[in-house]
Amino acid sequence: MTTSSAPGKVYLFGEHAVVYGEPAVPCAIERRARVTAERRDDERVRVQANDLTLDGFAVTWGGETGTRPDVDVPRPLVEAATGYIDGAIEQALDAAGEPAAGFDVTVESDIPLGAGLGSSAAVVVAGIDAATRELGVELSSESLADRAYQVEHDVQDGQASRADTFCSAMGGAVRVRGDDCRRIEDVPTLPFVVGYDGNTGDTGELVAGVRKLKDTYGFAADTIGSIGDLVRTGELALRDGDIEELGRLMDFNHGLLSAVGVSSRSLDTMVWAAREAGALGAKLTGAGGGGCIVALDRTEQTHTALEYTPGCEDAFRAELDGEGVRPE
Ligand code: MEV
Repeated sequence: MTTSSAPGKVYLFGEHAVVYGEPAVPCAIERRARVTAERRDDERVRVQANDLTLDGFAVTWGGETGTRPDVDVPRPLVEAATGYIDGAIEQALDAAGEPAAGFDVTVESDIPLGAGLGSSAAVVVAGIDAATRELGVELSSESLADRAYQVEHDVQDGQASRADTFCSAMGGAVRVRGDDCRRIEDVPTLPFVVGYDGNTGDTGELVAGVRKLKDTYGFAADTIGSIGDLVRTGELALRDGDIEELGRLMDFNHGLLSAVGVSSRSLDTMVWAAREAGALGAKLTGAGGGGCIVALDRTEQTHTALEYTPGCEDAFRAELDGEGVRPE
């Protein structure tokens, strides 16, 4: 039996625009998905998800990884438990040169699902690592990131960037632009506060919506380009440790994301609650549509304000996690 864990993340800047080749800066946070893989005698895969908004959900399928289970659970949740795990197992079998092996897989996570904190990427990265180790093979973080990206790319119909998977595999703050992915060293302490509205955005639908706007209106395409310019400015502020400037740019980034239609009433409400509490800046994180916002605040005020904000289900401080995927 082998267990690996990988962190979730927040986007300091650049979600959505990263899909079109602009840079993005995601940061790993100390909230992890843990995946345990235990080899079976047959070629079936059994998934038990304990804390993944899928409490107590268990499903077995297999022989071939292409066979979908028939269960009465909303599609995005089934995909979380099967599509991503299925892809992770396929990658592990390929990496280990074992075309057929079955596993009992257990997923435990303290990253809310579909909330913009990179839960699926963390599950896939940890899943590939656990299954390959169980088969006696150890992959580098870069190779895990690459294989996890292939899984997200397939499950999300070719619309995923490398941002979530690279960040989860490597940990820390990273810069992603197309296939060019690297860690950013010497990052200042980033006082992240996260607010979660309890909702789930459909990443595929949200990405498709932005693509349509961008293809229809020149000014929407310009907005995507402006997010890229903002990220480049943000990288300089990050290098200079200028937290105030980072906050201002986060506010601006949220405005540009709203303009391309991916915010929501509850995300806007949490962003304004954070700003009014004195946060240096606040924005939605991830695909949007619902889920999480991230704010920068050295004081406790934003955390407290979010706890009392109607529509905010959970608020927590999130430390930057310098460590990516690791065996447990
Ligand atoms: C989703 O977490 C972030 C998006 O930019 C999509 C992606 O980068 O794959 C919306």
